[in-house]
Amino acid sequence: MQLLHSVSELRARLAGEQSVAFVPTMGNLHEGHIELVRIARERGSCTKGTQSGNPQAGRGVVCVVVSIFVNPIQFGPNEDFDKYPRTLEADCAKLQGLADVVFAPAVEEMYPEKQSIFVEPPPISRELCGEFRPGHFQGVATVVLKLFNLVQPRVAVFGKKDYQQLSIIRQMVIQFNLPIEIVGAETARAADGLALSSRNQYLSDAERTESVMLSQTLRGMGAALQGGAAEYAALERGAGAALARRGWQVEYVSVRRQADLGVPEKGERKLVILAAARLGKTRLIDNLEVCL
Ligand code: PAJ
Repeated sequence: MQLLHSVSELRARLAGEQSVAFVPTMGNLHEGHIELVRIARERGSCTKGTQSGNPQAGRGVVCVVVSIFVNPIQFGPNEDFDKYPRTLEADCAKLQGLADVVFAPAVEEMYPEKQSIFVEPPPISRELCGEFRPGHFQGVATVVLKLFNLVQPRVAVFGKKDYQQLSIIRQMVIQFNLPIEIVGAETARAADGLALSSRNQYLSDAERTESVMLSQTLRGMGAALQGGAAEYAALERGAGAALARRGWQVEYVSVRRQADLGVPEKGERKLVILAAARLGKTRLIDNLEVCL
């Protein structure tokens, strides 16, 4: 595994690679990230040959690249950019044997001049998390496009944990005609259901105990939908109020269409429930896909 910091080293290392599988991260890696890296190797090794029944076709030619970069332009002025945990050495130890290249650039390497051209993400990026984090998805889409240009992957893996991010990246890849297959990976969770996140370490012991209520609330709503509940707004209000009574500052709880995160019509069968709420100073997000 090679650790590279500069764009020129990265380009030189990747020149001539047939198939690059890419996992962009901000580091402080946990099992959720590591699973994405495993999936990257698996999916990167898949060629048309494997689909047609030859499991050996394409084996071994994949180069798995993980980027570790805390991207300043996706953090708002009152967010945790400075405080975000930076643990490069421990991250590299976890990636040993799983990744071929770790790209960990300095801010000046990613932003050689002040960024004045941005990806303008679609209107959905101003809803849900975007309503509470103005400019966040513009910053994400811009850095991911830059990373795609540098790494030029054939496959890139993103977690469903950040469902809205995944949805916006998928739209960007289609609308900018990028020749990249986007793979969505299931959310890795602690045994009690809490979605793994670098931000969980900000939780106090009492908050960590309470935090399980977010995924439980989503599961309760999912069961209600499976049971025939169709008044989405009432479900959202009920769940939000229940969390608020327990001391959560709820940003949103929302039932959406999986396909584009639009507000679903009655009878829509592929739904996703998304939520964001704060416990003390820590902002947690989670979601649950529900297929009726
Ligand atoms: P980061 O929060 O480090 O997440 C990197 C990738 O790991 C994302 O695709 C995210 O969805 C995924 N991930 C995080 N927690 C997960 C979990 N519990 N289960 C499964 N996947 C999980 O997302 C970002 O970084 C940044 O916005 C980035 C895309 C790197 C752009 O800066």
